[in-house]
Amino acid sequence: MREKLEALLTAAAAELAQVGSEESLQELRVKYLGKKGELTSVMKGLGSLTPEERPLVGQIVNKVKGELESKIEAASLQIRERLKAEKLRSERLDVTLPGRRQPVGTRHPISIITEEISGIFAGLGFQVAEGPEIEHDFYNFEALNFPKDHPARDMQDTFFISDTLLLRTHTSPVQVRTMLKQPPPVRIIAPGTVYRCDSDATHSPMFHQIEGLMVDKGITFGDLKGILTNFINQLFGSGTGVRLRPSFFPFTEPSAEVDIACVICKGKGCRVCKNTGWLEILGAGMVDPEVYRHVNYDAELYTGFAFGMGIERIAMLKYGISDMRLLFENDLRFLKQF
Ligand code: DAH
Repeated sequence: MREKLEALLTAAAAELAQVGSEESLQELRVKYLGKKGELTSVMKGLGSLTPEERPLVGQIVNKVKGELESKIEAASLQIRERLKAEKLRSERLDVTLPGRRQPVGTRHPISIITEEISGIFAGLGFQVAEGPEIEHDFYNFEALNFPKDHPARDMQDTFFISDTLLLRTHTSPVQVRTMLKQPPPVRIIAPGTVYRCDSDATHSPMFHQIEGLMVDKGITFGDLKGILTNFINQLFGSGTGVRLRPSFFPFTEPSAEVDIACVICKGKGCRVCKNTGWLEILGAGMVDPEVYRHVNYDAELYTGFAFGMGIERIAMLKYGISDMRLLFENDLRFLKQF
């Protein structure tokens, strides 16, 4: 019986060495230690032994059983360790790899130019003011000295909402709103969206302007020219040629249109400047006393100047964009370039 037991232990040890998974280990456990297992069947033979032999062989059986159990336990531990190591290896992360990039949008050229222009005027002491896009006839026209039947209204192809409400055709009504809200001195710029019933390669029914207004005691046309020349040199580069041409706006007197030397040909003449060497970029003038009357400013005490410019036009000139519609189609291939 002893030999039988030892043979059993050797056989079990040899099988254990081959076992590679928890499942086959479990099978082996059943094979030797289960109810119908080999050790159990040996133990059943104990009954045929003499009472003297029985405790001795019983001891050996218990020892073999214990040894077998601890061998199986050791093998199980080894398998679990190996599986854990494999799992760790397969799930290994390289923490030095760069992270995944999130796509980030870019700012729209209109926003870039608006912020650049606002920044320049902020440096000259101007504050930003705003007004509504749905405007009263009074602010858009009447207070700016466009009487009801005045032909100057024709220039501004207006979207009317009712007899008295309209989509503002320019940012000039913000001048009126600002002066009605505060006494002089005033030094504001007003960027914003404006609307006109007009659409082609250089006109859009919705576009953007920046208005400017400076009112105080003793402001002259020289201040207008100085501030605007300074602004143009900051925006288009120092030494940019500036030219003022007489013009007409109902709310300024005298009025001027301001040209810069063509940014493309530097004044030599090209297709963009229609061979004139000059590009018109803004309208300006000394605030008309008639406007002061509407906002209750004393025209004897105060003078000032105003100016207005189209942001799309400036963006087109600065970036060399030939069709204004590109600015509103939101084609990402176009927008990503800024
Ligand atoms: N509001 C004018 C327009 O849209 C532009 C303009 C001209 C504004 C002269 C001004 C100015 O403030 O002084 O055509």
